[in-house]
Amino acid sequence: MTNTTAAETHPVHLVSGATGTVGREVVRELLERGQRVRALTRDPAKAAFPEGVEVVRGDLTDPASLKDALTGVTGLHLITFGGAAFQPLETGPEIVRTARDAGVRRVTVLNGGGPTPLEDAVRAGGLDWTVLMPVEFMANALEWAEEARTRDTVRAPFVDRLSALVHEGDIGAVAAVALTEEGHAGKEYLITGPQALTVREKVAAIAGARGRDIELVELSEEEAAERMRAEGQDEYTIAWLLDVYKNTPPEGRTVVDTVQRVTGRPARPFAAWAEAHAPAFR
Ligand SMILES: NC(=O)c1ccc[n+]([C@@H]2O[C@H](COP(=O)([O-])OP(=O)(O)OC[C@H]3O[C@@H](n4cnc5c(N)ncnc54)[C@H](OP(=O)(O)O)[C@@H]3O)[C@@H](O)[C@H]2O)c1
Repeated sequence: MTNTTAAETHPVHLVSGATGTVGREVVRELLERGQRVRALTRDPAKAAFPEGVEVVRGDLTDPASLKDALTGVTGLHLITFGGAAFQPLETGPEIVRTARDAGVRRVTVLNGGGPTPLEDAVRAGGLDWTVLMPVEFMANALEWAEEARTRDTVRAPFVDRLSALVHEGDIGAVAAVALTEEGHAGKEYLITGPQALTVREKVAAIAGARGRDIELVELSEEEAAERMRAEGQDEYTIAWLLDVYKNTPPEGRTVVDTVQRVTGRPARPFAAWAEAHAPAFR
């Protein structure tokens, strides 16, 4: 007779950032694959998840709070930040140690746009890690929803910049495969959508999907900075964002086939995202 642990017969995946744009897609994709999913949040009372998801309280800035959440967990999806302003987590080594002690085998990390202490700790931590490096999320277009809805207008800088923007569901799908199948350990996956589109093309796709024209007004760099300031963004973030818009690096505007290669399904186009989210723009 072989001895099997509960974790081997019923592996559980713990998803951090599970209430967020990408994490909720990781949850959904794991469920679709018939996996047991535990969702981490700092405030279970505010969180809503699909049926079958176990919700646990925990804070990544306080690794001791993850101990119970990690019981029986073999697959872990991590974000690299903690808090409203995306401050990089400094608790990576303790999180990795706690995960290893709990029996976690595979970890996916959502890259935070550059090196972070948490990602460094995961890479050095002796677990089977996979780093997810998505380009711009399609969901970022939701920042235009209110203007489009109330004024039939979108105001944005650099309207001809190209972006190979990715559907957040496809990031979730790549994570779910990496957590549940062999062959993804030690890999960094750049994840893009199937097309590089300009802001003009994105706005036209949204207008088509919602069935009403949208006027696109190009903002100067200064006007864009002014607006971000008014929204409460700090100067560092404003300068960083404007630089990414102005000088989008080749990997941000070049389509790669990671989604197809890893998941066996084609990456979802922006038109599909726009159709699904059209009500937010009407
Ligand atoms: N937007 C883009 O175009 C883009 C492109 C590439 C990479 N990225 C990266 O994607 C990441 C953002 O992902 P997202 O948009 O999915 O996030 P998001 O929607 O802003 O969600 C934030 C999530 O973080 C969780 N969280 C925050 N602090 C926490 C803490 N101390 N302990 C536990 N959970 C905590 C929140 O959970 P609770 O509030 O429920 O606790 C929430 O689920 C960033 O690292 C960014 O650099 C973004």
